[in-house]
Amino acid sequence: MNNSQAGILQDIPKHSRYLSFHLEADSINKDRLHEVLEELAEIVDGEKIVLGFGPSLLQALQVLIKDMRTFPVLSGPGFDIPSTPAALWCWLRGDDPGELYHLSREVEQLLFPHFNLGHVLDGFMFQDSRDLTGYEDGTENPEGEEAVAAAIVNGQGKGLDGSSFVAVQQWVHDLDVFEDKSVDEQDDIIGRHISDNAEFDAAPPSAHVKRTAQESFEPDAFILRRSMPWTEGADAGLNFVSFGKSFAAFETILNRMTGKDDGISDALFSFSRPVTGAYFWCPPMKGNKLDLSALGI
Ligand code: HEM
Repeated sequence: MNNSQAGILQDIPKHSRYLSFHLEADSINKDRLHEVLEELAEIVDGEKIVLGFGPSLLQALQVLIKDMRTFPVLSGPGFDIPSTPAALWCWLRGDDPGELYHLSREVEQLLFPHFNLGHVLDGFMFQDSRDLTGYEDGTENPEGEEAVAAAIVNGQGKGLDGSSFVAVQQWVHDLDVFEDKSVDEQDDIIGRHISDNAEFDAAPPSAHVKRTAQESFEPDAFILRRSMPWTEGADAGLNFVSFGKSFAAFETILNRMTGKDDGISDALFSFSRPVTGAYFWCPPMKGNKLDLSALGI
């Protein structure tokens, strides 16, 4: 039996609401934090709400989680990859955006006045799980036992086994730029034909799936992607979310996307840019409650 937060391994829901919280300066008190996090653990079921702890909150709790770190600041030719860390991340998952809104108010009220809500983003499933460019997203995700092996910590002892490390990046697309390209040019950016989702050998080395092919790394770099499209006013893009048993595979892939390895950057950057980047540690479950024993709670 797997004791990870169930929402990590499940398919993406129809709707999501992502909340990032920051710690209030006068709440940086271990005992007070223990109290509020105990209350939070009562309502986090790991399925409707997936919860992650950021580096600053772990530091305030005076705990070291092996492999936890802050999202790196990176760049490539003509683009920046920002790091925008936060203390706490909640991924609310469901079928009804109205219910998610009410759930987010409940979480916000529970955390008041110790945490303030920073970034909020609503995501949704587009068609049969496609990015807003129209390309299927998630095809090469590991499944079943392979998904568990890629995304869930194992063999590190009680309180850590069943946990997961999540990387979150909000990408903003320029769909005018993308749509101005021919279908062949668009297929070359992704490295798959939109017509049948097939990979093709003739795709250039900058093609996204050639840059990121998980088996092409040594050791291989499997991650469990649970990304979803978002829109806000006239803006739109992908909220990239990937779970790993550490951040190693994600960082290996992202570095190759920047062109750091061989000078070839990912063609995705020709129409899309990340505007946020944060890492969180998602604790395991014990029965139907969050297991916060690694935090001394
Ligand atoms: C604008 C942001 C992004 C978009 C629109 C996007 C879209 C896609 C699409 C359409 C595919 C092909 C189908 C599939 O296997 O899922 C794909 C594959 C993949 N993407 Fe992304 N992606 C984005 C960002 C990222 C980032 C930031 C990473 C990791 C650092 C990443 C890692 C991967 C991996 C590992 C694969 C599968 C490669 C393979 O093994 O064949 N993607 N992505």
